[in-house]
Amino acid sequence: MEEKKLKLDTNDLSYVRIKGGNRLEGVVSPDGAKNSALIQLASLVLVDGNFVTLKNLPLISDVYDSIEMIKETGLKTKLVDNEVTIMGEPSSFEFSAYYGSKIRASLAFLGSVLSKFGQVKLPLPGGDKIGERPIDIHVDVLEAFDIEVAIRNGFVFAKARTFPLKGSSVFLRFPSVLATVNGILLGVLAEGKTVLNNVAKEPEIVDLTNLLTKMGARINGVGTDRITIVGVTELNSTTHEVMPDRLEAAALMMSIVMTEGKGTVENTIPEHNIPLIETLRRCGIDVVTDGDKVHIDAVNFNKGFQVETRPFPGLATDVQPLITPLGLKCPEESIITDNVFQERFSHVDELRKMGAQIDRFNNTIHIKPNNKLSGASVEGGDIRTVVTLINAALSIDDDSKVYGVEHLNRGHSKFIEKLKLLNADIEIIN
Ligand code: UD1
Repeated sequence: MEEKKLKLDTNDLSYVRIKGGNRLEGVVSPDGAKNSALIQLASLVLVDGNFVTLKNLPLISDVYDSIEMIKETGLKTKLVDNEVTIMGEPSSFEFSAYYGSKIRASLAFLGSVLSKFGQVKLPLPGGDKIGERPIDIHVDVLEAFDIEVAIRNGFVFAKARTFPLKGSSVFLRFPSVLATVNGILLGVLAEGKTVLNNVAKEPEIVDLTNLLTKMGARINGVGTDRITIVGVTELNSTTHEVMPDRLEAAALMMSIVMTEGKGTVENTIPEHNIPLIETLRRCGIDVVTDGDKVHIDAVNFNKGFQVETRPFPGLATDVQPLITPLGLKCPEESIITDNVFQERFSHVDELRKMGAQIDRFNNTIHIKPNNKLSGASVEGGDIRTVVTLINAALSIDDDSKVYGVEHLNRGHSKFIEKLKLLNADIEIIN
């Protein structure tokens, strides 16, 4: 009963058992990037008669759900190990409520399916519960392409007034990642020129456009505030390797740091994590980057830190929970503000159960230095919170249970095995 009461929003009673206190040491690699893989899979509705193979796919439940959504369009999929091939011709623009409502990135099917069919019926998305996640910017983007949008019975119904679509000029009032994806996907086959202003510059956008460019799309300005696209009539077959997951790399760096360990995260792109790396250095941690490797030696925590999340190249909002327990290690108060998801603080209450002293003022938290943490039963309701709690538990010389395994499995493949390889005493209890 006691355990059941702890559960907030799930029926999954499995948990991660952690005996903290071991210093993590060794070499570890992140898998392919979840957020890249998901938008690339959604874009492949544009394959139409050709084939595309994606390599380095993370084997996580969000990816399996996206593949099921591709099948719902009538395309064929072949998944072997970490490689998926999408082929055939899509025949349906309607999705069931089941898969799309579980993941946030299902929104990217708006762009690809509208581009192909001029209409779509898509369930409202799910994904991490990290505060308000409206879709008004997506609707703005669709309307700029003369697409009519209605939301009824938990679905988005959208239909182009003129089809094939015509290129458009779009301004995003905030550089939303997935709304930028939709703008790109609507532009690649639209007649003439599309200009997207105030777009997201996240590495996942660059990875998507690398794939689309290989398929023959004509896209310029990616990684700047303005993307221009000249529509083409069809896209070709290709093979593409999904970039490494910068958020899993950040999570693993924090696992090593929290245990005052010494290790290397390799097969990563250190430039994707500069705000995190610089923050660690400011706290006194020795971080050296070398090609695709980040070496960490976390023996010294000599200062607090103050950071704010921003769209890329700023500190990612997904890294905000991950970096919070760092404040507990620092000898001075640390301050974090989340400007992107202002309610993304569900980890704070759970860390308090471990003895953390954290004050919250709207979208800012003040973390007091604290050496007296103890193990606890805690729960994460989203991917980054679960990992944050695991990392905090690893640093405490005590036993903890972290619930929310289904969220971990949505975002990470074999994360617990990776930590075990680094000498963590940790296992999933089903
Ligand atoms: C993506 C990532 C998510 C990450 C986020 C920000 C995926 C699957 N998810 O989510 O992990 O935390 O980028 O880097 O790639 N907003 C609106 N209206 C909209 C859309 C967004 O107000 O129509 C707001 C959001 O509430 C939020 C901000 O814009 O405050 C950023 O959201 P956005 O960039 O759209 O996040 P996602 O693309 O959903």
